[in-house]
Amino acid sequence: MDLSDTAALAELSLDVDILVNNAGIQKVAPVQDFDPADFHRILTLMLEAPFLLIRAALPHMYERGWGRIINVSSIHGLRASAYKSAYVTAKHGLEGLSKTVALEGAEHGVTSNCVNPSYVHTPLVDKQIKDQAATHRIPEDQVIEKIMLTESAIKRLVEPEEVGELIAFLAGPSAGMVTGASYTMDGGWTAF
Ligand SMILES: NC(=O)c1ccc[n+]([C@@H]2O[C@H](COP(=O)([O-])OP(=O)(O)OC[C@H]3O[C@@H](n4cnc5c(N)ncnc54)[C@H](O)[C@@H]3O)[C@@H](O)[C@H]2O)c1
Repeated sequence: MDLSDTAALAELSLDVDILVNNAGIQKVAPVQDFDPADFHRILTLMLEAPFLLIRAALPHMYERGWGRIINVSSIHGLRASAYKSAYVTAKHGLEGLSKTVALEGAEHGVTSNCVNPSYVHTPLVDKQIKDQAATHRIPEDQVIEKIMLTESAIKRLVEPEEVGELIAFLAGPSAGMVTGASYTMDGGWTAF
């Protein structure tokens, strides 16, 4: 479904044990040029929709006394980067939502956590290379090295399977005491 259709989500009842909030988009532009409609679209998809999905899933999880909410945040839930105002705002908001749900869900056996990867090798990254090059005024073939890997001590992109394994851990039986946490997978970015 289109997760930016929040009216439909408000009516949803979601009978699941594990919810992974993952859908996301990116837009790269300076604040003064950032289209307000794009800002609204990103906040709706990446903050309001996760709230509505969690809201729809919690009653079933509470009924069973067990549930796992895993929010795919980002390094940009913990750090800002220039030209990504909407994305950084949405991800910082998701961090707060995740922690609030952790507190409310604790007595019902429901955990809520974020995963925080740096740049992952996915179409979302490929699609922003052109915009990053134009905004930073550098050639496209320099974007990964000069923009995306500058802050990372390990100089490579994260692979999607690595993020998947972290999510599987958070969904599994060993992670019962992990809640309200934000697990970085950022090659050392936040060690600075
Ligand atoms: N790629 C990265 O470098 C990176 C880094 C940190 C966090 N993330 C986060 O990981 C998550 C997945 O991103 P990705 O890199 O796999 O991007 P992607 O572009 O490969 O995939 C995004 C997914 O979101 C879905 N989506 C987009 N708009 C939607 C809508 N309106 N309704 C329903 N689904 C919609 C798409 O169908 C797609 O499956 C996002 O939340 C993103 O912010 C990505």
